[in-house]
Amino acid sequence: MADKSDASLSFGRKAARPAGDERRREQRSTAFLKSFFSLLQAVKIHQNNNRALIGGAEKFIALARRLHESDDALVLRFHNKRIYLQESKLIYRRETIGLFDRLYDYFTKRGIVALRFHTGEAEFTVDAVIGLARLLNLAEQRPSPQGWLSERLDDPVFQSIRLVLRTDDARKQSRSQQGLRAYAYVLKSAEEIARKLSGDHPAGIGKTRRMIQNMVDLIIEDDPLFQALSTIRFYVDYTYAHSVNVAILAMCVGKRIGLSKRSLESLGICGLLHDLGKIEVPLDILNKPGKLTPGEYEEIKKHSMNSTRLIVKIRASRKHLSEILVAPFEHHLKYDLSGYPQTNRKKPVSLFGRILTISDVYDAITTPRVYRGTTLSPDEALGYMLQGSGKDFDPILLKVFINMLGVYPVGTLLELDTRELGLVTVPPEDLPEKSTPVDETRPWIVLLKKKQKNGMVKEKIVSLSSQDPQTGKYLRNIVKSFNPHEFGIQPTEIIF
Ligand SMILES: [Fe+2]
Ligand SMILES: [Fe+2]
Repeated sequence: MADKSDASLSFGRKAARPAGDERRREQRSTAFLKSFFSLLQAVKIHQNNNRALIGGAEKFIALARRLHESDDALVLRFHNKRIYLQESKLIYRRETIGLFDRLYDYFTKRGIVALRFHTGEAEFTVDAVIGLARLLNLAEQRPSPQGWLSERLDDPVFQSIRLVLRTDDARKQSRSQQGLRAYAYVLKSAEEIARKLSGDHPAGIGKTRRMIQNMVDLIIEDDPLFQALSTIRFYVDYTYAHSVNVAILAMCVGKRIGLSKRSLESLGICGLLHDLGKIEVPLDILNKPGKLTPGEYEEIKKHSMNSTRLIVKIRASRKHLSEILVAPFEHHLKYDLSGYPQTNRKKPVSLFGRILTISDVYDAITTPRVYRGTTLSPDEALGYMLQGSGKDFDPILLKVFINMLGVYPVGTLLELDTRELGLVTVPPEDLPEKSTPVDETRPWIVLLKKKQKNGMVKEKIVSLSSQDPQTGKYLRNIVKSFNPHEFGIQPTEIIF
């Protein structure tokens, strides 16, 4: 039920009516919600080919498009007993309160936090809208409506509709699954763009933006989960996994400094496309073991300029393009304007550019590569980057980055004085040691045991803050940290 104590209610009183545009928008919003409600009722009694049902779906589509002012999606959100359209809170009036309450209850019962309609997409059709209404009705009888809905909505028919589902502690499992799925989709769309552009085929950004938007929603809810996901490393497809990791890390930083959702999306796309230009660098140079010749290094250096040139070819609105062009161009420019490409500029590197540089270097130096003898462990990498604070990296953003990842970032492999090995993990949701003060230098770890043949199996999760009740001494202490990939350990396989 809606919060009836809210000041914006107008029972018995004449509330000040907004004039002109605002009033019109309010009427349109109400008409849209009414048509959504009617559609949900109509699918219960009609077949898909029924004229009245098709007419209702067409009306819903038309109303959604009228509310859709920019080229972004139309977002309907349910939060704290109120309904929001495009992030503006709907006013409850005497004549609409019944409808709004029923819709609020309807969607929250199904664990839906928000719906996003990409009304400009060709896939936003009568079939998709009727299909959605049917699924929403059916979801109520499922034991886990969220999981059931998210699987069904993976169908390409629903490409233009995205749901944001509520995730709570009991559904942590499904949240990690959602995270892994979001990772895979974003990776695939980065590959697709690169493939199309390298073959000189037109590439759009709509699908990628939708995937990134989905990721932004998940990151807003649970960024430690995504920091853990950013430890994924694919050796075959290094560039794409690296691009997704950079996008995730950059968006997590963006969230911490309070960027808007829209900015987070653009920042994510910048991360995803920053190394696009590498598709034009010969593979034998890109993967050359050992030192590059000056000529080869010059070839590599072209990639940030090439990324920008390829991004220009993407079919997107001017506004979107302008938001994603600059940072990929700048991602090898350092905070003191050294680095490349050199243009004799005096202008400081853009905010997105400075965030990308930090995320890019961190992911690169923690990833084993053929041309690098050693790979730093995540905590060593942060220590190394700190030496470049104020010169290579924006000192404030670097501080945000280090605070975000912690002294021992998730995915760091630790050797303990008990001769055990442990992998730093996300703290459990139901902390058994709640009274223990949070000590950054004593993270939660998954203990690992060597398998008989090769590989590791996971044992229990313990906190390095645990003490012996008799002596007060810590049960386990860190001896040394390692990069898990040096031991062939893929952290995400252990953590998820
Ligand atoms: Fe790069
Ligand atoms: Fe990169």
